[in-house]
Amino acid sequence: MVSCASQGENSEMNSYISSLMERMTLQEKLGQLNLPSGGDLVTGNVNSGELSELVREGRIGGFFNVKGVEKIAALQRLAVDSTRLCIPLLVGADVIHGYETIFPIPLALSCSWDTAAVERMARVSAVEASANGIGWTFSPMVDICRDARWGRIAEGSGEDPYLGSLMAKAYVRGYQGNGMQGKDEILSCVKHFALYGASESGLDYNVVDMSRQRMYNEYLPPYRAAVEAGVGTVMSSFNVVDGIPATANKWLLTDLLRHEWGFNGMVVTDYASIAEMSVYGVAPLKEASVRALAAGTDMDMCSNGFLGTLEESLKEKAVTEAQIDAACRRVLETKYKLGLFTDPYKYCDPDRVERETYTDEHRTAAREVATETFVLLKNSNRLLPLAKRGKIALIGPMADAANNMCGTWSLTCNSSRHESLLQGLRSAVEGQAEVLYAKGSNLYYDAETEKGAVYIRPLERGDNRALLDEALHTAARADVIVAALGESAEMSGESLSRTNLEIPDAQQDLLKALVKTGKPVVLLLFTGRPLILNWEEANVPAILNVWYAGSETGKAVADVLFGKVTPSGKLTTSFPRAVGQLPLYYNRISQSRPDDDETVFNHYTSNYLDEKNSPLYPFGYGLSYTHFTYGEMRLSSEVLPKNGKLEVTVTVTNDGETDGTEIVQLYLHDVFAEIARPVKELKGYQRIHLKQGASRDVTFTLTENDLKYYNSKLQYVYEPGEFDVMVGSNSQAVQTKRFRAE
Ligand code: NOJ
Repeated sequence: MVSCASQGENSEMNSYISSLMERMTLQEKLGQLNLPSGGDLVTGNVNSGELSELVREGRIGGFFNVKGVEKIAALQRLAVDSTRLCIPLLVGADVIHGYETIFPIPLALSCSWDTAAVERMARVSAVEASANGIGWTFSPMVDICRDARWGRIAEGSGEDPYLGSLMAKAYVRGYQGNGMQGKDEILSCVKHFALYGASESGLDYNVVDMSRQRMYNEYLPPYRAAVEAGVGTVMSSFNVVDGIPATANKWLLTDLLRHEWGFNGMVVTDYASIAEMSVYGVAPLKEASVRALAAGTDMDMCSNGFLGTLEESLKEKAVTEAQIDAACRRVLETKYKLGLFTDPYKYCDPDRVERETYTDEHRTAAREVATETFVLLKNSNRLLPLAKRGKIALIGPMADAANNMCGTWSLTCNSSRHESLLQGLRSAVEGQAEVLYAKGSNLYYDAETEKGAVYIRPLERGDNRALLDEALHTAARADVIVAALGESAEMSGESLSRTNLEIPDAQQDLLKALVKTGKPVVLLLFTGRPLILNWEEANVPAILNVWYAGSETGKAVADVLFGKVTPSGKLTTSFPRAVGQLPLYYNRISQSRPDDDETVFNHYTSNYLDEKNSPLYPFGYGLSYTHFTYGEMRLSSEVLPKNGKLEVTVTVTNDGETDGTEIVQLYLHDVFAEIARPVKELKGYQRIHLKQGASRDVTFTLTENDLKYYNSKLQYVYEPGEFDVMVGSNSQAVQTKRFRAE
């Protein structure tokens, strides 16, 4: 129900926009639907470029990819002062995990399971982006992904719809703040609607084909959560949904998004996706534009289809003026809600740049959040944390590569301003221990293969043999070895699919040689996706996965490596044993012939001849420097009464050597349902901090809402009957009890 206040605001907005639109020509309306990239303007002169011509002529509604508040302000001034109707521009950018203060990549952020941390990241991003002229970010990316081959797995929150939905809401809250009224609150754009993360074979821009049940139960919830959190804009995805490119899919963009979910914001396409409908063999640009508009697309990113062809299509009666008006109104409403009609220069205060960008406060936030995202995968004989003494050899191509610390989508960062890992470790142990350094290896032996992985952030190559020799020489002088390696920043992200998920060849050999020295080795793993770590798990004593931790990597890694902070991150994506297992995810649908014994091959059950079914590291997994023991789970009753509740309690004790944070997880399984259901689904979790020796009762309250799912008729229901509830420290280490729902 809409409150009286917002009805008032709406009617004010409606009459403002109606009177504006009455004065608009068709060309001016089409201009509002056009969103070009200003990439070529990053270093150009704003008053003479092609983009400024478009602004002057009222032929664009906004732009993105322009860096620098002065340039942005100049373009806004053109729009406001030199056009007939003075309509301000939307200014967008991919501010995905920070503007200049860069936080960990989104996949890492999700491993904190800490929605407050994600909201904090988004808030800092909004402050810095808005101080630099940006009022609209193309974030969050909430595509569920279960295939580590897909490079864009780095940009999302992993494989789980429940956790993904909580994260989606946290991002939107952080960016949009209190209704986007503040000067440091910006418009958020949830993407890529929809199902992009299910790209077949993990190949980017590939086909997606999926049942409605799977969509509703598993892939759609995070987008919907963002809509419920009030996200202002939605970006359609590159992929097809039911064979129709998402950009022109009316079921998706109108029936589902607007009618079923009640979204009343603006829909923007992804980059050139209207134009690419012709490559799909679906429609040439003119017809594609007609179909995209009819489907519910409002803004055309970089196809020039709406601006270039809709006028003619209107003459030919292939579109109606009402359709164009509806899209134009939604673009204008978006600007209105953002407050741009009241103050077009809301985000153009040059004094804010210095004051509010890369501040100590923001950097502290990035450092603290980063420490929560690291996942301790292995720690034999409590090798970690390291003592600050003796000689520590830091070896690997990521050890002194400041330009590689921020991961994908960090083009707004300034890597000359932040430390490398080596610098961070050295300052952390100053006066107490010595940090020796060797690069150790190239990323790959083959220079050509390496090129694709260092496209924007180059790494100097050395001679393969000489690098290894130097590394072994350095290792020989050290008490302990920290191997900083894995993927470079540009091995994950858009268009960065891989078929081999092991650590690249040269680095693998380096690691093997280091382990062979017999000295204790810590693998500090840099990656934007799950990697295959069978050899590492079997042979390296300690593995700390630090993903891409952002501009404060050096300090954050030092905090955890030397025990100032105890790691608490847990995986939100399963780490496979083999590429052949993909897609791999914990919440798989029950099978008719499950494999109950992984130790042997079982004919006529669902297993592989040559590999186990289980992941190497499961969803929810992550170790700590301390240890937590779970008592027996207690249910308040064996029955969950209709309209009632059931409490599940477990006592968790920190019986290890330090204070620490544990993420206590609750999963459900529907024993019999109308359709085959997942073997388990996350339905709750609590992050608890426990002092050494302390215990706490952790209680979850279940209601019938937790039992609901979309059945074969897509009704959101629960079916009375038996359910299993599971509680534990990860998706595999659980204890189970059964209850009955009435
Ligand atoms: C293409 C990407 O798919 C999308 O995530 C991004 O926001 C746009 N390009 C704009 O840069």
